[in-house]
Amino acid sequence: MPKIYLDYASTTPVDPEVIAAMIPYFQGHFGNASSPHAYGRDAHQALEESRECLARLIGAQSREIIFTSGATEANNHALLGTARVHKDKGKHIIISAVEHHSVLEPAEYLRKNEGFEVTVVGVDQHGLVDPREIAGAIREDTVLVAVMCASNEIGTVQPITEIGAITQKHKVLFLVDAVQAVGHIPIDVNELKADLLSLSAHKFYGPKGIGALFIRGETDIAPFLLGGDQEGGRRASTQNVCGAVGLAKALEMCGQWMKREAVNQTKLRNRLLSEVPRLISGVKVNGHKTHRLPNNAHFAFEHIQGESLLMGLDQSGIAVSMGSACTAGAMEPSHVLRAIGLPDELAMGALRVTLGRWTTTEQIDYFLEQLPALVKNLRA
Ligand SMILES: Cc1ncc(COP(=O)(O)O)c(C=O)c1O
Repeated sequence: MPKIYLDYASTTPVDPEVIAAMIPYFQGHFGNASSPHAYGRDAHQALEESRECLARLIGAQSREIIFTSGATEANNHALLGTARVHKDKGKHIIISAVEHHSVLEPAEYLRKNEGFEVTVVGVDQHGLVDPREIAGAIREDTVLVAVMCASNEIGTVQPITEIGAITQKHKVLFLVDAVQAVGHIPIDVNELKADLLSLSAHKFYGPKGIGALFIRGETDIAPFLLGGDQEGGRRASTQNVCGAVGLAKALEMCGQWMKREAVNQTKLRNRLLSEVPRLISGVKVNGHKTHRLPNNAHFAFEHIQGESLLMGLDQSGIAVSMGSACTAGAMEPSHVLRAIGLPDELAMGALRVTLGRWTTTEQIDYFLEQLPALVKNLRA
């Protein structure tokens, strides 16, 4: 039986060239980047080179980057760190209804425990935020707006530049969760007008456990982890040098692959988007037709439990997802599918297929061969 991975939005394999770049920092150059001796200096140099590389690739300055354990930490830091520092200006934040849980939960924490008001801006049936709604929601006491760049579930890419122009005009901080976009579509913090931007290496062929938060210029933000003075006093803990080297290498490689990958993946993805509803009745395609990540196809099947479909495909050697990895296994329909207006019954039949660097035409053929019979069996 073949073993086919079509769940690249959950995580990606580490590119062999990324592994090769990381290996020296596990052994020969294993020093603590804060140590004053030669081992420490080697590690420090690698860390700072990685920071410079990442900064250059997203249009930032290296002093505007802090390395984190991933995007969950980066999003938590961005929300809690800015809201708390700016609470004298106001205690109102705005988020979109389709944010990842790593944005939703800290926003809810601020609401419940620290007296903040949170306005949740909805989306249309394709998952798009209307920038005018963001403008309408901004108040005198608004300190932060958070809108993700691309949906981890339905792949919709938001009008971030337009939203950024609005937050800039109103002098409100703007957090962009760019986890699903970085490495897959061009990202420039200045073009997006982001004040804060989060990313995670394991979504673009780098290792797990390393991410970064971009913090524009002099943006005031409270430190998240307290302890040593690493990362300019903004994040204590011994730095993950191997991870930072891997992150930078992975992103550099994405720059070289991006155009080619986007063409290949869009072609295969479009085939899925047209073939699945042609082969199977009672299927809804979710997400925007054109403002969409090249690698994302998302469906909702009538009269099917997404989990059964997932398990059935797994038995045929195909790995897919219902949506976000973080809610897989939960019996609640996804908040994103509810936000685009899908009835719960349909939202429970969700299937996300995400493609990547090593997805082939043959793999998509096999998927399209297996799926109709499986859906028929489950419906029967
Ligand atoms: C949009 C989005 N934001 C944040 C995260 C969290 O990233 P990490 O796994 O690095 O904590 C994810 C992971 O799935 C994501 O898709």
